[in-house]
Amino acid sequence: MSNFLEIKNLTKAYSAPQGGSSSLVFSDLNLLVEAGKSLAIVGPSGSGKSTLLNLIGGLDSPTGGEVLIDGKNVHQQSPEEAARFRNLTLGFIFQSHHLLPALSALENVMIPALAGHGVASGQVLQTRALELLHEVGLSERSNHLPGQLSGGERQRVAVARALINEPRLLLADEPTGALDQAKAESLMELLVRLNREKETTLVVVTHAISLANQMEEVWAFDGGDLKKVDS
Ligand SMILES: Nc1ncnc2c1ncn2[C@@H]1O[C@H](COP(=O)(O)OP(=O)(O)OP(=O)(O)O)[C@@H](O)[C@H]1O
Ligand SMILES: [Mg+2]
Repeated sequence: MSNFLEIKNLTKAYSAPQGGSSSLVFSDLNLLVEAGKSLAIVGPSGSGKSTLLNLIGGLDSPTGGEVLIDGKNVHQQSPEEAARFRNLTLGFIFQSHHLLPALSALENVMIPALAGHGVASGQVLQTRALELLHEVGLSERSNHLPGQLSGGERQRVAVARALINEPRLLLADEPTGALDQAKAESLMELLVRLNREKETTLVVVTHAISLANQMEEVWAFDGGDLKKVDS
């Protein structure tokens, strides 16, 4: 099977806020992921997990190396291609949820589909958004604004939003971080089911060992290196 996601010699350094020397987060990372695989990325706080996800999703630029998705360099797309890629191929569950505060839970879920590339529109879209809110246990909260939701509820709205366009690649940054054990488990089940049934390629950053162990491969940041953990 061919590789869907290829990370080649990926390096990221951040320039210092006041001109000083830049700080290296990681260098020369290599990772190959086949289509439909599931993968967990673990490692200490500050080791570069979110940085790596942002680079894979094209939300940040690498200092060196490249990220290829379906053979296409994520960081060498035209603005239109990049927008289409983020909207259609990619679902992103952020560590901080980034919901739009003036929109209801339901409207937040529908946002990615409103850009026009999406799989559904009109009543079909609304029905699908309501189904996704039901899947994450929020049927009763669809008209609430983010400010009227708990942290864990906001996180689940963000999960539903990431799934609305049926992405081929789902990047999830600590998706169960704000959830209690039971809700975390049901979200894990949803992610695993999605991976199996829709063959969504799944890259999940997590501190939760129980979630990491449900993925087919576990990779760990270890002193600036990314290493496969033997199962
Ligand atoms: N925009 C930025 N400018 C400068 N440094 C940054 C920036 N974003 C992240 N960093 C630094 O890069 C390193 C990696 O950060 P990152 O957010 O990827 O860590 P993480 O592994 O996701 O940690 P956590 O488990 O706490 O979420 C940290 O030392 C962080 O301070
Ligand atoms: Mg992080």
